Amino acid sequence: MMGDVKPDVCVVGLGYIGLPTAAIIARAGCKVLGLDVSQHVVDTINRGEIHIEEVDLDGLVHGVVQRGLLRASTEIAPSDVFVIAVPTPFAKDGHHTPDISYVLAAATQVAAVLKAGDTVILESTSPVGTTDQMRDLMAGLRPDLKFPGKTKETPDVSIAYCPERVLPGRILEELTNNDRSIGGITPRCARKALAFYKRFVRGTCVTTDARSAEMTKLVENAYRDVNIAFANELSMVADKMGLDVWEVIRLANRHPRVNILQPGPGVGGHCIAVDPWFIVAGAPDETPLIRTARNVNDGKMHHVVAKASALVEAHPGVKVACLGLAFKANIDDFRESPARYVAASLARKFGARINVVEPYAGELPREFEGTGAVQIDLDTALEECGVLIVLVDHDVFKVIPLAERSGKVVYDTRGIWPDQPGVDVAAAGLRLAS
Ligand SMILES: NC(=O)c1ccc[n+]([C@@H]2O[C@H](COP(=O)([O-])OP(=O)(O)OC[C@H]3O[C@@H](n4cnc5c(N)ncnc54)[C@H](O)[C@@H]3O)[C@@H](O)[C@H]2O)c1
Repeated sequence: MMGDVKPDVCVVGLGYIGLPTAAIIARAGCKVLGLDVSQHVVDTINRGEIHIEEVDLDGLVHGVVQRGLLRASTEIAPSDVFVIAVPTPFAKDGHHTPDISYVLAAATQVAAVLKAGDTVILESTSPVGTTDQMRDLMAGLRPDLKFPGKTKETPDVSIAYCPERVLPGRILEELTNNDRSIGGITPRCARKALAFYKRFVRGTCVTTDARSAEMTKLVENAYRDVNIAFANELSMVADKMGLDVWEVIRLANRHPRVNILQPGPGVGGHCIAVDPWFIVAGAPDETPLIRTARNVNDGKMHHVVAKASALVEAHPGVKVACLGLAFKANIDDFRESPARYVAASLARKFGARINVVEPYAGELPREFEGTGAVQIDLDTALEECGVLIVLVDHDVFKVIPLAERSGKVVYDTRGIWPDQPGVDVAAAGLRLAS
């Protein structure tokens, strides 16, 4: 395109979102500086390697680093567009309060090198009002620049919020093809951000205001959480009544307007298990449903621990394999994982009887230390373990044929083996007290 000057881009935070985003922007021909506080992350990327597991990311990062389009650093430098993708965890107050300090720290760094004409985009999942707070912080630090919403004149910089809705394991494809909501502090800011995303997004980009875009992201994950909570609650009801929840859901879903999701061992990850609380924090009195859904999904983890414990106790001396630690299938992300919580709880209770199979983990997480539980490979588990507890629906587990599972006692929290003959729950002493 004549006259199309590609902007220099700085991506702040090179994790599961920031690194793939930086690599895709670099692939579109922009010079990208990736900023991270971790020297290890920076060194790894500058060697053309990656520190996270994501399909096809290694080749892409290697290529753009080699072509000089992506460089990582711990030091920020002037750019034309800044994309912030740092963590937004809970504060350590035990009340699920959002902690936006990483966002504000990133904004402080950006403010130091900001110049007229720049665009700042926040991608971190954030409570409503965070983009405004970020703007206020930067405006305070840079009184020499005019900020959107703070001046009647044309502002010097544009600020927008653009949430990410990618699925780990399909991040590169979804970064490119998903529709995006782009919320500007002003419509002009939204247009500036839109022009930037159009360089590498093929999905439809819909512009809105920053607060609506912030809320949209939270609502998407709260919607998922509430619907999963319904399935998880059903699974606990089914356990109490001695019913097969998978069969009940399969039959109910034959209704043309019913589509119940699948239960699991709880809800994990740093999105669905976290983001609904950001809505609750903003409107505590108006969110009984969202809060209850969170509690139901957390409660399912404890239910699984209780049911699995009963199963292990009912088979003294039999070796147990917990299949999976990740928070969802086919990824190496163990943050906020119910599978990890369940396996570690069983390890603490039953020690060396517990074996963990997790093809995506090099070693067991720290909480397994001193429990006696060990990591084994899948073949060994199938040879040596008489009790299998399915916690993650990794493809490698799904394809285990019935012949290799027959004769084993199975607790399949994900419903990956519909052909598994049912465990005689009552005979195994598994009927739970509550
Ligand atoms: N991972 C997902 O699937 C996903 C999906 C949608 C939205 N999000 C949201 O995206 C945001 C980032 O999530 P993530 O999974 O990529 O996190 P992550 O923990 O994988 O990566 C964040 C990176 O930011 C770095 N960092 C922290 N503070 C920094 C600072 N001040 N300057 C520079 N770097 C800094 C960390 O070292 C880390 O490498 C979060 O708000 C998350 O909720 C994540």
